[in-house]
Amino acid sequence: MNGTNMEAKDKFTLGLELPTDPRWINIAEKNIREILIDHAYCEQKAASSCISLIVLFPEKEKLVDILTQVVAEEWSHFERVLVELKKRGFTLDRQRKDEYVEKLLNKVRKGGNRDQQLLEMLLINALIEARSCERFKVLWKNISDPGLAEFYHELMISEAGHYKNFLQLAKEYIPEEKVMKRWHELLEQEAEIVKSLEVRGDRIH
Ligand SMILES: [Fe+2]
Ligand SMILES: [Fe+2]
Repeated sequence: MNGTNMEAKDKFTLGLELPTDPRWINIAEKNIREILIDHAYCEQKAASSCISLIVLFPEKEKLVDILTQVVAEEWSHFERVLVELKKRGFTLDRQRKDEYVEKLLNKVRKGGNRDQQLLEMLLINALIEARSCERFKVLWKNISDPGLAEFYHELMISEAGHYKNFLQLAKEYIPEEKVMKRWHELLEQEAEIVKSLEVRGDRIH
């Protein structure tokens, strides 16, 4: 199935092969402080990762232009998660171990030329955006707090846009056939990772 068909299946599933375990929403809703803190760090890591890409590939003008905008959006998401924490009487706390991202990073192919390294980085970012978007969709559709539901709806749309940015950038610098072959390999691996992780309500992933 190609990417277009996948998107037709569900606009916000973005090709992911494994939907979120339906038990996750119930336990996540009971741990909203932990979810929001973990979410804040997801936004921080998204911004940091884009900054790293800009620093590593400064000669790629389109990448610099697009990712500069993404950094600003991710940082505004971080700020807004802080507001949601404060509204509920909470503040930011220490970051927790991000097993999902650690396991994804283990799948990155080491070595290769600069473009191959760029492809790996862009696709890992696209995957994290896709999974975040899918989780935000679950939160939007199921969470009982109407303010948070609206917040997650808005973020779901924004992260879907970032997913598209990363895939488009990959196709800008690397032949499309190569991009899609690697993308489908990583989608399969991502589904295996999600399956292997314990369903817990204190993590976005
Ligand atoms: Fe974000
Ligand atoms: Fe994002």
